[in-house]
Amino acid sequence: MSPSSDLKPEVTVPRHIAIIMDGNGRWARERGWPRLKGHEQGARNVETICEACIEAGVEYLTLYAFSTENWKRPAHEVAGLMMLLERFLSEKVAMMNRNGVRLATVGRTQDLPGPARKRLERAIEETSGNTRLTLTLALNYGGRDEIVDAVRSIAAEVRSGGIEPQKIDAQTIAGHLYTHAMPDPDLLIRTSGEMRLSNFLLWQLSYTEIHVTRKFWPDFGSEDLFAAIADFQTRERRYGAAEENPVAS
Ligand code: FPP
Repeated sequence: MSPSSDLKPEVTVPRHIAIIMDGNGRWARERGWPRLKGHEQGARNVETICEACIEAGVEYLTLYAFSTENWKRPAHEVAGLMMLLERFLSEKVAMMNRNGVRLATVGRTQDLPGPARKRLERAIEETSGNTRLTLTLALNYGGRDEIVDAVRSIAAEVRSGGIEPQKIDAQTIAGHLYTHAMPDPDLLIRTSGEMRLSNFLLWQLSYTEIHVTRKFWPDFGSEDLFAAIADFQTRERRYGAAEENPVAS
């Protein structure tokens, strides 16, 4: 058990945590259940982790809920995930308003099915006044597509004379990403043991600390989140610079 009171107050709590919620399918298979049961339990877990983030003082939580590659799954699984998303959005607005959670989204959400898109827009509107935690759902999200969309919009501004090509720098690109209004993640958590980024926040994760746990997402509880934060607190972030007190070389 690693309660939030064990976190070191003098050491920085990550301002922004991003999570690749992996392992729903294996969690269900271990129990002999259909994959959708795993996704259902995974969706339930989002509330637990939001509340744990608030308890720890995290300001931004970004969850990889549906990637551009997830459309390749069997049609009934995609339909099930969309139904779960709709249910989550209609049932959890009250929880979000109670906890001060503002909902946001990144991804090509214009291509989501109409009912899910409308629920999403409504939930974003209904939680827009909250300020404790920004919960961003990555939906129909792909990191490469995000960069493509940013390049297209910068190119359009260049063509209309709004930007000079020589003035384009890293800040210009960051400012045209879906995430332009939030800081880069400090900590990336991936559940179920896989060691890959899977096309998630490719630009934004450049200097993010990574914590991988073997636990499947439906089993990843508050204590696991606090353990990941405690692990983060042991890291020395150097952003490419040298160690602060190196042994004389
Ligand atoms: C990976 O598990 C998870 C996903 C593809 C989607 C994540 C979705 C949820 C947690 C549920 C819906 C979320 C919300 C916010 C409504 P996997 O199926 O790849 O697991 P496996 O690798 O064990 O097969």
